[in-house]
Amino acid sequence: MVHLKLKFISLASPSIFLILLLCLPSPSTSDLSSEKQALLSFANSLHHGPRLNWKPNTPICSSWIGVNCTRDQTHVLSIRLPGIGLYGEIPPNTLGKLNHLQVLSLRSNRLIGNLPVDILSLHSLHFLYLQQNAFSGDIPSSLSLGLISLDLSYNSFSGEMPLAIQNLSQLVVLNLQNNSLSGPIPDLKLPTLRRLNLSHNNLNGSIPFSLQNFSNDSFTGNIQLCGPPLPQCSAVLPSPSSPLPIFPQSSEESYKKKLSAGGIIVIVASVIALFLLVIIVLVLCFMKKKEGKESVASKANGLGSGNNERPKEEHSSGVPMAKKNKLIFFDGCSYTFNLEDLLRASAEVLGKGSYGTAYKAVLDDGCVVVVKRLKEVAAGKKEFEQQMKMIERVGNHAHILPIRAYYYSKDEKLLVYDYVSGGSLYTLLHGNHGGTGKTPLDWDSRVKILLDAAKAICHIHSKPLGKLIHGNIKPSNILLTRDHHSIIISDHGLTPLMTPSSTTSKLSLGYRAPESIMSRKCNVKSDVYSFGVVLLETLTRKSPDEVVDLPRWVHSVVREEWTSEVFDAELVRHKNVEEEMVQMLRLGLACVCRVPEERPGMEEVARVIEEIGRSSSEG
Ligand SMILES: *[C@@H]1O[C@H](CO)[C@@H](O)[C@H](O)[C@H]1NC(C)=O
Ligand SMILES: *[C@@H]1O[C@H](CO)[C@@H](O)[C@H](O)[C@H]1NC(C)=O
Ligand SMILES: *[C@@H]1O[C@H](CO)[C@@H](O)[C@H](O)[C@H]1NC(C)=O
Ligand SMILES: *[C@@H]1O[C@H](CO)[C@@H](O)[C@H](O)[C@H]1NC(C)=O
Ligand SMILES: *[C@@H]1O[C@H](CO)[C@@H](O)[C@H](O)[C@H]1NC(C)=O
Ligand SMILES: *[C@@H]1O[C@H](CO)[C@@H](O)[C@H](O)[C@H]1NC(C)=O
Ligand SMILES: *[C@@H]1O[C@H](CO)[C@@H](O)[C@H](O)[C@H]1NC(C)=O
Repeated sequence: MVHLKLKFISLASPSIFLILLLCLPSPSTSDLSSEKQALLSFANSLHHGPRLNWKPNTPICSSWIGVNCTRDQTHVLSIRLPGIGLYGEIPPNTLGKLNHLQVLSLRSNRLIGNLPVDILSLHSLHFLYLQQNAFSGDIPSSLSLGLISLDLSYNSFSGEMPLAIQNLSQLVVLNLQNNSLSGPIPDLKLPTLRRLNLSHNNLNGSIPFSLQNFSNDSFTGNIQLCGPPLPQCSAVLPSPSSPLPIFPQSSEESYKKKLSAGGIIVIVASVIALFLLVIIVLVLCFMKKKEGKESVASKANGLGSGNNERPKEEHSSGVPMAKKNKLIFFDGCSYTFNLEDLLRASAEVLGKGSYGTAYKAVLDDGCVVVVKRLKEVAAGKKEFEQQMKMIERVGNHAHILPIRAYYYSKDEKLLVYDYVSGGSLYTLLHGNHGGTGKTPLDWDSRVKILLDAAKAICHIHSKPLGKLIHGNIKPSNILLTRDHHSIIISDHGLTPLMTPSSTTSKLSLGYRAPESIMSRKCNVKSDVYSFGVVLLETLTRKSPDEVVDLPRWVHSVVREEWTSEVFDAELVRHKNVEEEMVQMLRLGLACVCRVPEERPGMEEVARVIEEIGRSSSEG
């Protein structure tokens, strides 16, 4: 389910684009209005539903669904219309006229007929996603050299794989599975190629040496294909008993003349034996295959997939139909993927938290989202849905990560969030796992981070939104945007859904208020405690992993009047903020007071931090 993430794409594509921009003579023949005409004639020649809101009198760059333009709004840069119900044949001279197009995704529609030659040869094209349609005919042999991702899988393309693929030196993804391609596989010496799938075609011959390092998963379902990673290409069947070579070495005429009658009988007998053997093997294979198919189908039926679904779709992935499309999106969310796309997306593990694993998923239309896979959820479906609604309601705040969608089934619970790219307070303070990559953090940045986080938690606690508790405040849940200008709180509101064992997981025990560890209940005051630990950690750069009870450690150091030793050495260098640092330390210690009632409220905490920040910037 989780594929290797392709760093290459995200890193390489902008630079490739730049290079292309610099190298190509800028074609000025096609301006935006002729691109609009081309798109309109594309849309008019296909059947489609009302979601395709392309109208001649509306601005193409800002209001047409699925269309994105260059920054200066002069050309169409990408078209993404996955699963939008397009039906019919794409005429040439439509999409092929968009000579700045970089991304074209028309996957999961019902497009038929030949793929126009002019699309694949568009010089600007980098990403082409046409999988899950019903295209037929040959794959055009004139291919854009800039292609990075080429996905034509699950169509009915036939003929041979074009040799021109050999020249696609930027290609990273090549998916051609489930077509009817025949003939040999070209020798693809493409150092950039990371994902290859040629399964379920009619390709034959031996697998080129350059592709032998891909797994057999990339080639299965091509009966006549052989060689590593598939079984060796020995003679199809060794002749068991024939004393004579079956196939003549010299010309057939002269060979026959030299044979005796007995020899001919032996040859005929062995040919017949061979023929029978082949038939038996084929029959056996066929029976096995049929069995396999039936079990997949019955499994899908057993899980309750609807009878009126098209059978082709029932097999399209490991996810039975009944479970598909149950990804619940919240209003105002512009994503257009479904669960299957999500499962198919390339993903990178971002982190394993106490509640589950977070993945960064790059969907094949280029969207980047974070998928959190919850383990040990104790809540039932109703309860889960209600909590999701509450979480969604607090998301409307500059410093809170909004939830975009969720998925709930008996054995899988997924949450989908926007991706925030600047790391977390944890990585800022302690670097990545190896201890490298920590950035020096000055006093003002630390105050700003704490203040934004405090404001976000205030918002979560505020009454009109209902009784929501963050429940899992720790530095790795305080995220930063790429420019470090804004911080965003994540993972809020999940605690009530989880099993007790996961909420007291060792991973975040140091941040839990003592009373909430015992009662397993969280409230606003236990959030204040957790925030207090984060505050102390931000001042001392000591994490609760390092000193088991950070509040106690801070107390002990302060009691012995080594106050300056408690602070992060990087901060102590700035002598002029010493007083503010001590004030901040006092606030932190108040937050981690053992008695919940003596802790300040979050409003109060935010107010004090703001004051401290103001006095240090004045001083
Ligand atoms: C399309 O363009 C808009 C605005 O220019 C941008 O916010 C959005 O991220 C773009 N979408 C994609 C998928 O690139
Ligand atoms: C690959 O590129 C080379 C050099 O540009 C060219 O000569 C050759 O014909 C191309 N091969 C195919 C199959 O297009
Ligand atoms: C592969 O199949 C083609 C016909 O599609 C045939 O001409 C060719 O001889 C086959 N090659 C091998 C190695 O079997
Ligand atoms: C295949 O992998 C081996 C070991 O990882 C490497 O030495 C070899 O060069 C690879 N072969 C190709 C064709 O990439
Ligand atoms: C594919 O490879 C895996 C492990 O490398 C092996 O277990 C499996 O039997 C292979 N399948 C085929 C069809 O060769
Ligand atoms: C290729 O596609 C087939 C589905 O047709 C799938 O079973 C197989 O796992 C895929 N292989 C790879 C390497 O993704
Ligand atoms: C791909 O082809 C194989 C073999 O024909 C089949 O078992 C599988 O269901 C196909 N996958 C899809 C999504 O059509």
